[in-house]
Amino acid sequence: MEIAFYNGEFLQEVDEKIIPIQERGHQFGDGVYEVVRVYNNKPFMLEEHLDRFQKSAEAILLQLPYTRQELTEIIDQGVKRSQEKNVDVYFQVTRGIAPRLHLFPNTKAVFSMTIKPSRPIDPAKKESGVAVLLLEDERWKNCYIKSLNLLPNVIAKQHAASRGCDEAILVKDGSITEGSSSNLFVIKDGTIYTTPATKGILHGITRLAVFQLAEKMELPIKEQHFTEEFLLQADEAFITSTTQEILPINKVDEFEIPTHYTITKKLQNEFLKLTK
Ligand code: PDD
Repeated sequence: MEIAFYNGEFLQEVDEKIIPIQERGHQFGDGVYEVVRVYNNKPFMLEEHLDRFQKSAEAILLQLPYTRQELTEIIDQGVKRSQEKNVDVYFQVTRGIAPRLHLFPNTKAVFSMTIKPSRPIDPAKKESGVAVLLLEDERWKNCYIKSLNLLPNVIAKQHAASRGCDEAILVKDGSITEGSSSNLFVIKDGTIYTTPATKGILHGITRLAVFQLAEKMELPIKEQHFTEEFLLQADEAFITSTTQEILPINKVDEFEIPTHYTITKKLQNEFLKLTK
């Protein structure tokens, strides 16, 4: 069953018409969000997601309306209500409901959440990889904030889809930052490379899981800025996100990327064990 929660209450239906017209999330995108995947009733890396949620909220000077304990309980209650074992939990907080003025209103932040059965990942993509399209990163300087403002991301994703690609890989000043909704890893001569966790990218939780796995598996992993050429010459490359997990890349623009995926497959297998 799909579940929705808005401003302190669980709703009857997930598409109930509920958002007041003067919601700042609606009018300004004035808020931040998280996506957590629940595997077999257990939210994956929930503490790390809640840490990032708190950091995002602080970065936009927004006081969360619930304590960490309360947030955990609301998520837990929602998952129980859904009566599903494997769900995607989306939650966001906005600066509340107030007449449309740019200045911060003196209102309480509004928390909302939806819970839906996990969107399945196409096994063919897991196995054989996805195509990606290189595009200019047109976003602002604070992409570490998981902001509701995703306009450049959705436009980039749409461009990628219109060219038959699954993801847009964003390039800023000659360096690759990340995907429109994922982090990027490149493998060259046995070492795994990914862009450093600066303010210019989202510090992905799946990215963090890959670091932990690589360390456990004694695979060399490095944070380093790299160019499009480096990606094109990769031995393997993959993207990561909560909802896509670890997906190999088989094509960048019109160029093929090797598809043996030796190290990527090992990481996928270990990730599977983590989430089982
Ligand atoms: N997106 N980079 C961007 C720009 C993202 O939007 C995401 C996730 C990631 C990966 O982060 P994580 O591993 O914590 O999911 C990286 C989510 C899934 C979304 O917006 O739906």
